[in-house]
Amino acid sequence: MPSHKSEPAEEHEMEAFLAHFKGTRALIESNLKQLVVNNEPLLDVLFKAINYSLYSGGKRVRPQFCFIVGEMLGVPEEQLISSACALEMIHTASLIMDDLPHMDDGKIRRGKPANHLVFGQDVAALASIGLLTRAYEVVLNDPVLPDDKKIAVVGKLANVVGSDGLVGGQFVDLKYSDDTMDHSTLEYIHMNKTASLFVTSGTTAAIIGNATMETTRALEAYAGNLGFAFQILDDLLDASGNPREVGKELQKDKGGFVTLYGIEKSRQLVLAYTEKALNAIKIFDGRNDKLIGLCHILLNRKS
Ligand code: IPE
Ligand code: IPE
Ligand code: MG
Ligand code: MG
Ligand code: MG
Repeated sequence: MPSHKSEPAEEHEMEAFLAHFKGTRALIESNLKQLVVNNEPLLDVLFKAINYSLYSGGKRVRPQFCFIVGEMLGVPEEQLISSACALEMIHTASLIMDDLPHMDDGKIRRGKPANHLVFGQDVAALASIGLLTRAYEVVLNDPVLPDDKKIAVVGKLANVVGSDGLVGGQFVDLKYSDDTMDHSTLEYIHMNKTASLFVTSGTTAAIIGNATMETTRALEAYAGNLGFAFQILDDLLDASGNPREVGKELQKDKGGFVTLYGIEKSRQLVLAYTEKALNAIKIFDGRNDKLIGLCHILLNRKS
């Protein structure tokens, strides 16, 4: 993958980031386990399907980002847990849906057979909707978050899932992605299907942390550009990654930056969007080390 133009993080710094992310990851995993529980024996298979995808080894990038922003703004960890978990639940639900035969027909996800290949399309569709809906409940039932914050966070989550976000992006991707599409259609797709959830992962933490408008705008610019770079790199991994490392069936994405611009130009665009993300957080100088670390980790990812 491409190397980055600006100063690479020192090796010891990278190790510190990775150790930090590992700690946060453990927090995310244990809280997801507490928040997604089933008490009805008749639903055992449905929850097996939900848990199959939820604990299949995702990178947990969106909740990690939410925690980083929260920490930077001095938000107590316990106030971020429900939002961070809700973001991961929404994301995992979107992956189950994305793999369905009438969508991308993905057969491998996170290195394992796609949900519908194990549980059937009917159960997979219900698992996706069940997980998605539980995400809103998790925030609304949060015992520590004040009501005004819950309402604002759930509003943002609903907005990012709907036709102004994920659903809209996925629709345009399915219906208009091909080698004749123009740049603005591609931008619409990447913004809505991927970058928007990155933006929301930052804004939920900004809401909880009472961030100023200036801070929120800077975080949105960072996350939008990082999310963009993330999806272009996903397109690159689809085109030329190592299938064992990527954990997905490759050469599935018919549109995308690689189709439109080729591999070299797409690599340059990953760097350009990452650079924009890094520029946006210069206003947080002195307390933006983890946001910078996240850029470096995502830029060098192999899956
Ligand atoms: C995959 O997202 C879907 C995209 C938006 C590109 P991730 O690469 O974050 O997937 P997991 O959660 O690590 O499996
Ligand atoms: C990501 O796009 C879309 C989602 C929001 C799930 P892709 O269709 O490229 O994602 P992968 O490559 O299947 O993970
Ligand atoms: Mg897709
Ligand atoms: Mg897909
Ligand atoms: Mg892809």
